[in-house]
Amino acid sequence: MIDWHFERTALAEHFLNAFDTGITGSLTLFAPRRMGKSEFLLHDLAPLAYGRKYQICYCSFWQLKDNPAKALRHALEECVENHDWKSRLSAYISHSGTVELKSDLPPLASLTLKSNPEKPTENDLLSIIDLIKRLARRKAPTLLLLDEVQHLSTRPEFESLVALLRTEFETHRKKIYVVFTGSSREGLMRMFRDRKAPMFHASQQIDLPDLGSEFVAYMLDCYAQASSVKLSLVKAIKVFNALQNGLHCSTYS
Ligand SMILES: Nc1ncnc2c1ncn2[C@@H]1O[C@H](COP(=O)(O)OP(=O)(O)O)[C@@H](O)[C@H]1O
Ligand SMILES: [Mg+2]
Repeated sequence: MIDWHFERTALAEHFLNAFDTGITGSLTLFAPRRMGKSEFLLHDLAPLAYGRKYQICYCSFWQLKDNPAKALRHALEECVENHDWKSRLSAYISHSGTVELKSDLPPLASLTLKSNPEKPTENDLLSIIDLIKRLARRKAPTLLLLDEVQHLSTRPEFESLVALLRTEFETHRKKIYVVFTGSSREGLMRMFRDRKAPMFHASQQIDLPDLGSEFVAYMLDCYAQASSVKLSLVKAIKVFNALQNGLHCSTYS
């Protein structure tokens, strides 16, 4: 089978080494949308961490936009109950595809979608505390991958969840390592502005490097394997660069 994933192993090692050596307990990965953050978490960082005996928990806060606490509770429960990361991975991949599709709707169309943010229930919050504690008690460290975390800063309803995470991550900082991702710098700043929260405050932000010509060459190679058609690398790079410029312009405008 053709593996369409272009590996970013060096970056994944950089992340894990920072945790393994105790330099930091949390890192924040920033890139605009559709630049490969989730792909990096699920296909590069998680497998490497799994190989180094981490327990892996992945939660995208765009999965259940109105109720991120429930999404996190569910992800933690899965992690506690099922150690086999590989068997959980396929569900996350198909799920993130659906989410991206939904969030790609133009703004006008999304206005017609019903949004009804819910305050986390006490039951969900207590369960999250308990599940994090259970993971932290185990011998193996836990890698918590929290995708599109800036979503938590978009509604006052989610403040209790943010406060809970601050406290829990600080309490269990020796056993729970966290990677946040975000696609809005402003949203991330809103999330992390509380200077009293050491773990949030200390989370170093890393910009996801843009994919480049090596990625294009890899994709052409996959395409050639799939179709037996060889495309021009020079032309493909030109198209890719033009596309990237377009993406950056639309993201930052
Ligand atoms: N390393 C990679 N190898 C192959 N394809 C990639 C890679 N990174 C991103 N992509 C492609 O770009 C799409 C968007 O990536 P994604 O991780 O969903 O972006 P983000 O999470 O930043 O919004 C993926 O569905 C995939 O098709
Ligand atoms: Mg994503």
